Formats: sequence, structure tokens, C-alpha cells
Amino acid sequence: MNTYGRFPISVVRGEGVRVWDADGKEYLDFISGIAVCSLGHADSGLVDALYQQAQTLWHCSNLYWIQPQVELAEKLCRESGLDKAFFANSGAEANEAAIKLVRKYWSLRDKPGCEIIVFRNSFHGRTLAALTATGQEKYHQGFTPLVPGFVYADFNDLESVRELINDRTGAIMVEPMQGEGGVHPAAPEFLQGLRELCDRQGLLLVLDEVQCGMGRTGQMFAYQHYGIQPDVVALAKALGGGFPIGALLAREEVADAFIPGDHASTFGGNPLACAVSNRVVDVMVEPGFLQHVNDIGDYLKNHLLELARERQDVVQVRGMGLMLGVEFTRDIMPLVELCRHRGLLLIAAGPRVLRFLPPLTVSREEIDSGLERLSKALDEWTVS
Ligand SMILES: Cc1ncc(COP(=O)(O)O)c(C=O)c1O
Repeated sequence: MNTYGRFPISVVRGEGVRVWDADGKEYLDFISGIAVCSLGHADSGLVDALYQQAQTLWHCSNLYWIQPQVELAEKLCRESGLDKAFFANSGAEANEAAIKLVRKYWSLRDKPGCEIIVFRNSFHGRTLAALTATGQEKYHQGFTPLVPGFVYADFNDLESVRELINDRTGAIMVEPMQGEGGVHPAAPEFLQGLRELCDRQGLLLVLDEVQCGMGRTGQMFAYQHYGIQPDVVALAKALGGGFPIGALLAREEVADAFIPGDHASTFGGNPLACAVSNRVVDVMVEPGFLQHVNDIGDYLKNHLLELARERQDVVQVRGMGLMLGVEFTRDIMPLVELCRHRGLLLIAAGPRVLRFLPPLTVSREEIDSGLERLSKALDEWTVS
């Protein structure tokens, strides 16, 4: 169906940070399938994990215990400090599960039909509840009636959250760094303030780390930059390195609200997805992996700041690790196209923010090469 405004190329092959189109043209992929292929394309370890599992067991359903799923749950709980995992197939599904878990938790505590505070400019996915949680009206248009039980505060504005809290409030759901909304990291005092508010008011803090999680910001989970612990976390995208998988992690007391029959997914936590995801996590916890993301992220950000200093049309360079955005004073789609012609794949986050999401394994040489292509595209954009 006509749901995507696609670029006029077909990507047919990938290796590391590079992809090739059907005409054989090579590109540096600084999008990673929208923050998914964090170990790059055709990583031999992931290929191996998938191949081994494909020869063993593809699918058996959640009627039975799935060994790679149990292993993955243990690893994610160990890394997050949370206690239980539920597996889905996408980010929207992970968020949908989070919303259901919050509602069930409060329905057991004399607050059925609780409200969830979400944020303007957020993005949580396209299923109806995730779409409603998404605080951008452009995504809502044509899809009313939306799901009841959501109210919208301003991101990085604690006062706007306080004003919305009432007897029906059950949770606050937030991205530690807004991705689709324009690459906006939460201010430390904001995210820490939300945690304190939740503690004081007895609310659940739900973090959507679908885009910013799994090493993207230089910590395994973005909230680890802030020294806080959430009650619930949604993951997807890079969790499977390109194989579809989503996960919901929760503190035990919260997770216990779900009992058999409350929530399910035929494919969620499928052996193939979990085998690949186990390998993703194993690589990301190897010594030096996250340090590389921090170092190379700083390297890219410093170069972008340098580039911005030379131009009049840059408003701000922002982000953490390898989730960076450059906001311009004008519409950047022509620049995205010029970059593509020069063999650099980039993506917009809103009309004026150029977003950088390269594989976390990207090297300095590849960053240099990408910046060179960007610089030429910028010159061309300025002249045109
Ligand atoms: C923060 C966030 N949450 C949820 C989603 C939805 O994920 P999916 O497209 O896998 O449903 C996205 C996708 O961009 C996202 O960035």
C-alpha cells in the first residue's frame, strides 16, 4: 500500500557500514535502517547465530519454553537492573504491551482506567494506543477515535507534568531522547525530576528506549546516563540488529500484574529472533564496545559542531553517542537528497533536523568519509 514516501533506489546488499543499490552504487549508511543495524550489515557473528538457530529450531510458539528467549531475558534483566521480560516483534508492540501492563497494574490497585502522561513531540509507534501516546497530531489525523487515557505534557518541562497529575494518573511514559521528534535529549534534571515525581506520587516511570536504547547513546540504555532506574522499559530496533524483535522489561512487582492469558504474541521471542538478539547483546557488553560508541560519537559531534560554526543556517547540534541531530533554519529534504547522490544515506527527524544514526561499529575513516560527502553536499545546497 502507499504508506511510505520512498527514495527512488532499491537497496540490495550491505556489508558493515556500506550498502549498495540495484545499480551497483555504493553508499555509506548513516541511518542503519533507522537505528536498527547497530552492528552494521551482514555482521558475521549475527549471520552465524541466525544460521545455527535456523538449523536447530525456527519456531515453536510460546506454548513451550524457548531456550534462547530465556537466555536473552536473563541478559537484558542483568544489563537493565529490571526483573522480567516480555518479547514482542516491534517497538509499537513493546509500547502497546507497556501500556497494557500499566493499566493492568493499576486495575489491581483500585485505579482501573488509569491515565498515562505522555509528551508532545514524542513518537511511540503506529498501533492505536502507541499512536495515541505519540504527541504529534500529524500522526493522529484520519485515525480518530483515538484510545482514551492519555494526556500530554511538554518535554523537558517538569511543571507541565506536575499540572497534569491527578487521582487517575498511573504512569509517565517518555523517551529519554526523543528521536522522531527531532533528536532532543531529556535534560538531566527533567528525567531525574520525573523519577522523583513518580516516587513521590506512587506512579510508574515507563521509558521508551526503542530508538535510543541498545548502546545507541554510548550506554546500553540511555537512562543509565541519568543515574535513574525506570519501572518499565520498551526496546526494539537495534535489539535484533535487523531481525525483528521487541521487548518489554519491568520491575518484578509491576511485571507480576500480567498473568497467563493477559498478553501474548505468536512470534514474540521467536527462537530465530532471540538467537540473533543474544549475539547482539553479547557483542555490546564486550569490553570497549560502548567506549567506542562514546569516542566515535564525540568525534562525529565535534566535527558537526565545527561544520556548524562555519555556517549561518545551523541552529543547533545535539544528541548523545551516535544519535545526533543538526537542526537547520530551513527544510533539509533537498540536503538529504544531495547527500544520497553523493553516496551518504541520512535521514530527517522533522522537517529541519538532519539525523545521524550510523552503525555503532563505524570507524573514524568511515566518519571522515561521510563528513567529506556531507560537506560537498552542503556546499552544493548552499549554492543551489
Ligand atoms: C521511540 C520509538 N518508539 C517506538 C517506535 C516504533 O517502533 P516500530 O516501528 O518498531 O513499531 C519508534 C520507531 O521509530 C521509535 O522511535
